Amino acid sequence: MPTPLPPDWSDRLAFDRAHLWHPFTQMKIHEADPPVPVVGGEGCDLLLANGERVLDGISSWWTCLHGHGHPRLVSALERQAARLDHVMFAGFTHEPALELVARLRPKLPANLTRAFFSDDGSTAVEVALKMAFQAQLQRGQRGRDRFGALRGGYHGDTLGAVGVGELENFMTGLFRPLLLACERLEVPEDPRREIQPDLTGWPERLASARQEVRAFFAAHGDRLAAFIAEPLIQCAGGMRMWPPELLQELRAQCDGHGVYLILDEVATGFGRTGTFLASEQAGVAPDLLCLSKGLTGGTLPLSLTWATEEIYGHFWGEPASGRAFLHGHSYTGNATACAVACASLALFDEEPVLARAAALHEAMQAAFTDLSAHPAVRQARVLGTIGACRLVDPTTGEAHASDDRFGWHLHRRALDHGLLVRPIGDCLYLLPPLSTPPARIRDAAETLLDLL
Ligand SMILES: Cc1ncc(COP(=O)(O)O)c(C=O)c1O
Repeated sequence: MPTPLPPDWSDRLAFDRAHLWHPFTQMKIHEADPPVPVVGGEGCDLLLANGERVLDGISSWWTCLHGHGHPRLVSALERQAARLDHVMFAGFTHEPALELVARLRPKLPANLTRAFFSDDGSTAVEVALKMAFQAQLQRGQRGRDRFGALRGGYHGDTLGAVGVGELENFMTGLFRPLLLACERLEVPEDPRREIQPDLTGWPERLASARQEVRAFFAAHGDRLAAFIAEPLIQCAGGMRMWPPELLQELRAQCDGHGVYLILDEVATGFGRTGTFLASEQAGVAPDLLCLSKGLTGGTLPLSLTWATEEIYGHFWGEPASGRAFLHGHSYTGNATACAVACASLALFDEEPVLARAAALHEAMQAAFTDLSAHPAVRQARVLGTIGACRLVDPTTGEAHASDDRFGWHLHRRALDHGLLVRPIGDCLYLLPPLSTPPARIRDAAETLLDLL
């Protein structure tokens, strides 16, 4: 049984029910299951109002890197907010933004020389899409009025980002009349990431997938402004891990057809897949790179879209040329968020963050090896610090009916056992802060096995 809440929370939850509207939620479910009050964050744990402590097994929507309330990040926030909280970024600049770009640039592919700030993953993607389209126009490519994207992708919830995401997920198809023109390409999942891989026929399947990438570009390459992809793993699409060879093929085809390659590392950046960027594992450098989530270690919203000098050059001109990139947000380049991001990046330089990620990877392999033995689990797989599997009904071997809301019930039950997981459809995954001690992953696997 869940530990009861202190009495003062009943009024607050009544107020929540009366006036708040939570994201990604059919609010009716909160009539029976109100949102869970959280009163603190400490390391890899969240502290609930009922006095319980739960492992943040999904890094609070994949944002938290070094643990909650990290003292270095908290003191950077306090210092910067007291000195200069925020100033508009058009016509002004400040030290935290300069330091952040200087710290980040050496960690990125050398061709990415220009950093454009915005606020979250979706806006980083909007910026990349608009930059690509405008750059194509300004280099004389007028017929490139659409984008290419992978089936099963997710790039955020603003309309531009929805237009290049998978329309069958999250009911986004209903916005179809409002969306950008987009051609979609299917890539297979990579069985080599699986704990129990079946590699029969894999070289042939990979070769034919490569051929499909070429055919896609032969059909659409001259109409695309850019192709966008989440490198190596489509996270919100259900932790679909796809082959690095196909990312290399995408790069080659983009080059061959004058299409910009946008890599969306909003979820995969900052060590999640074992390397600082996931695309490093394919040796691929994009023309535009989107970063957010882990950029501030999970403390404040901030994002960056990085561009090449070639792209930047297409926007250069006299004021009257009309070539400028006229895009910005009230909080673009927020000084407090930049200072926190600097503190987070300093931790990568001063502490063995990526070595911790390697230890977490080992723990994740072991955890998903244990989970893969359970009859309700299929296709257990691991990439870096991300472990995932499919949940099925063990009696039928089929996915649970969506009306059963199996994932939701597992999420709620796991909270009562000290673990925050939030399955996406039939995909159960762990994506904890990089600072999580490996023993906590062992415990999480045991909890999940008990609950399953
Ligand atoms: C790959 C990817 N891109 C973009 C986004 C959108 O980011 P945000 O929710 O910060 O707008 C997400 C969010 O999950 C994401 O996973």
